[in-house]
Amino acid sequence: MGCTHSSNVDLTRDVCLHHFDLHRVIGKGSFGKVRVVQHKRSKAAYALKYVNKQQCLKQKAVANVVRERQLLEEVRHPFLVNLRYAFQDEENCFFVLDLMLGGDLRYHLTTKGCFPERVVRFWIAEVSCGLAFLHRERIVHRDLKPDNILLDAAGHAHITDFNVATYYTPRRGHTSVTGTVAYMAPEMLHSARYGYQWQVDWWALGVIAHELLWMKRPFDGTNVEKITQRILNDPIVVPPCVNVNMRPISMEGCHALLDRNPRTRLGCGNVQTSLEEVRRHAWFASLDWCALQAKEHPPPFVPDPNEFNFDLGLEMDEYMLAERKPGSKRHTPIDMEKLSPEQRKLLVEFTPFDFERPARRTHFTQNSPATAYYPTHHIVAGAPLSQTTTFVGVSKDPSPASSATSSYSGSVRSSSDTRYIHS
Ligand SMILES: Nc1ncnc2c1ncn2[C@@H]1O[C@H](COP(=O)(O)OP(=O)(O)OP(=O)(O)O)[C@@H](O)[C@H]1O
Ligand SMILES: [Mg+2]
Repeated sequence: MGCTHSSNVDLTRDVCLHHFDLHRVIGKGSFGKVRVVQHKRSKAAYALKYVNKQQCLKQKAVANVVRERQLLEEVRHPFLVNLRYAFQDEENCFFVLDLMLGGDLRYHLTTKGCFPERVVRFWIAEVSCGLAFLHRERIVHRDLKPDNILLDAAGHAHITDFNVATYYTPRRGHTSVTGTVAYMAPEMLHSARYGYQWQVDWWALGVIAHELLWMKRPFDGTNVEKITQRILNDPIVVPPCVNVNMRPISMEGCHALLDRNPRTRLGCGNVQTSLEEVRRHAWFASLDWCALQAKEHPPPFVPDPNEFNFDLGLEMDEYMLAERKPGSKRHTPIDMEKLSPEQRKLLVEFTPFDFERPARRTHFTQNSPATAYYPTHHIVAGAPLSQTTTFVGVSKDPSPASSATSSYSGSVRSSSDTRYIHS
């Protein structure tokens, strides 16, 4: 069921959509879908996430998409979903990512219910490795939740979705309220007063651990205001134990992450030694951390290889709504002078990336060629693009709460996942 662009494609040239055969839909993003693809030359399978430019412009999320692309180029780690290629066409921006055939933790939570403690502990430990790495790289993820933790076919956990991730500086805290309300740390909700930093991700990990163990978030509610009030004020509600073999130490682990004070929260003592701190906690002490960090610890939950670990409704959508596949729109020349500043920003700053080519183009201004990163034969009027090429990797984070909100749709998504996108 691959796509039909196979003939007459020069696979030695810069990567583009025609270098891949498109297969089934496995995910839905805020601005597009995620599909399995196969690289025509290497035959390697990847996940293709595409972001519709029109939707992205409409939701004022250009800066986020550009930053997601730039951050992904800078990081590589065994417990992250790593970027392999990036490119764009007239209609979409594309991320080609490591393929995680085991599905996301939201899917497993919804279809299988809560998980045994040893499984949750293993996932939290693997995600901690990825998180500690990001923080050492001065990146705060800001949208950690079960939807954004993906399992590979063997059952290892990986962090994905860097759409609202940003750099932090130790000197100045961020102030924008960004991410998904139910997973937001109290200091983010209070951010106008104090600002926040990387510690917010450890709080989100505590919410995830709680949800995976008890199938219930510690602070929940039917609307944003109620959830916010509970995060800020209420004691943690421990549900009647549905997991019969639950040890009290797992609850202590959750509570240590869900410490309202970011200075005493588990993992938050020092950014360089976060992982050590987590390793020393009694909940994790008996794990073989050397094997775990080397990805040699056998995962206690292996996704069924005969199962499609994704929401089947996504494929149904595609057939029912007869949606076009990406790349099927006819190309028309672009007149640079008619583009809005945001359109130009996306065109210029969503640069191509190919992990096989050592001379990577970087987003640092001093290295950026003053040309659009788009096949030049599609550009008719060349305005001086260098004026629009700016370094946006380090967010100054000037804006208050964003105006754009969206919620997930689809059968396995939770309706209270109200998400704020900072642009
Ligand atoms: N590399 C991948 N392998 C397998 N499935 C993936 C992969 N990337 C994404 N998915 C699936 O697609 C879903 C949506 O992807 P993602 O989280 O990146 O989009 P999103 O939440 O809309 O992000 P964004 O805010 O960037 O639009 C994930 O929850 C997951 O189920
Ligand atoms: Mg996501």
